Amino acid sequence: MKKIILTVSILSTMMLSNQSMSEVTKTYAPHSTYIPFPEGYGYNKNTEALQKATDKGDKKLIREHAWSLWAGIMQSSEKSDWPLWITWPNSHTAFSNSNDKLTVQNNKTRKLKQSTSLKTFSRDNMSIVEIFTKSPTYYIPLQVIQKYPNAICSDEVGSLNICDGKTFLNNGDIMIPTESLSIEAMNDIRQKKLYLKSTLNAAYKKGERVNMAKKSIVTKHMYWPVKANGITAIPVWKNNYPDDYTNYAGYEKWNTLIALSPDGMQKVGDTVSAKFLYDVNNYAGDKALDIISTKAVVHSLEEFYYHKVTQEDWNNFDEADKAIITTSSLRANNKIFEVGDYLVSVAMHINTKELSSWTMQSVWWSDTPNEGPYATYRPDLPQASGPWKHYLLTDVYATPKNAGEKLDKGVNPYIEGVIHPISTNCRNCHVRAGWPRSLASYQNPACPDSLANLTPNSACLSSINLTDYLWIIPDRAR
Ligand code: HEC
Repeated sequence: MKKIILTVSILSTMMLSNQSMSEVTKTYAPHSTYIPFPEGYGYNKNTEALQKATDKGDKKLIREHAWSLWAGIMQSSEKSDWPLWITWPNSHTAFSNSNDKLTVQNNKTRKLKQSTSLKTFSRDNMSIVEIFTKSPTYYIPLQVIQKYPNAICSDEVGSLNICDGKTFLNNGDIMIPTESLSIEAMNDIRQKKLYLKSTLNAAYKKGERVNMAKKSIVTKHMYWPVKANGITAIPVWKNNYPDDYTNYAGYEKWNTLIALSPDGMQKVGDTVSAKFLYDVNNYAGDKALDIISTKAVVHSLEEFYYHKVTQEDWNNFDEADKAIITTSSLRANNKIFEVGDYLVSVAMHINTKELSSWTMQSVWWSDTPNEGPYATYRPDLPQASGPWKHYLLTDVYATPKNAGEKLDKGVNPYIEGVIHPISTNCRNCHVRAGWPRSLASYQNPACPDSLANLTPNSACLSSINLTDYLWIIPDRAR
């Protein structure tokens, strides 16, 4: 398998000490050589104009930039059709320090509930009950526990869950996430030892807030597993709930499916029966949910960014990656994932430190990508390959608000739908990220409003050592 080998030119621009250099090289996601964010998409180019546009609330310029970042980050190298961010380290790697794997010999006969998944991480950052939504329960399939015993981890309180892999994280449901970091963000975390609680404790005592490098880019991306043969159903968001809906609004409840038939047995545009959601339980975990079965229109794979998983990819995944993908495919399609099956992009968050208040944008796939406010100001990007226009985009930049005026809703229905109510906002939540965790929770009682226009200077955040909008730091520090 290809191991990452950093070329001299990349190393010289990294300016690392010997010690941290070896840390970075050995913790890379080894899919191929690191590919930086490409030229030609305006990334980090005219940040003064971007700051001005943000200060003025100029949606056109902001959204054109946001669309370009999305199209740019999905480009691939000549050698591979993976998007370039797959060569970036993920948050699990960035915070790795020790091996916390656990064998489960004594537990093979009982169902195990997943615990520290991305879903639970997010939930643990909320302390007020109203914001908490009751999501379905996904038990780890027995065959996954048996086949990938080394992929079972325990969390801080000893519950077992699927470990995060070197490529994929465990979301705790069907979606297959990564949280990738640009090398500058990775280096900052490793060099400043932000992956250690002791560093954060010391910084808290001194009142030194985290300040990430200017070229930091952090993402959260979601794949959906698609079988090469037969029909795979994918739920699509149709504004199913009003903004004031406070209960669980995840994809399991959307009731609109589209179908993919990569083997061509069903024609694009035809209506077929499609099913998904197998062996998933209710919130209490004691009752199976119904399999969702509806009529669905067949769409083409080409309308998605997708990757056909090769034998080489499979060999390169670690056990946790395989356990995550297998679980996802069993729950989505009632079939295991095999070489030759596809991963299709359904949603992605992209945050960049081009501005000190960060740029935040998020996209999700839509079967009506040219309708509504999330389709506006798509620029012309002839150099961009792939169906980036088949997605809708929300931008959440620090645009001005009048005193007391609230932020607009800023959510990705796939990603936030499974963790919190519809009316939340990236910025409001991410600005709260900080240390110690006992003070920094999403629903901090001192600033309870999930749509308030909070900034790092907001009085209710003054006692918290903010971690520069990054939740992965307080969540994952060891
Ligand atoms: C209610 C809180 C909340 C909201 C709203 C929210 N996030 Fe996050 N986000 C989190 C948490 C918690 C994590 C860390 C998960 C982990 O530890 O891996 C996270 C992780 C991320 C990451 C990975 C790096 C990081 O910052 O930690 C990105 C990028 C991201 N979110 C972007 C967004 C965007 C864009 C939106 C809005 C469309 C959004 N988030 C909305 C809580 C939130």
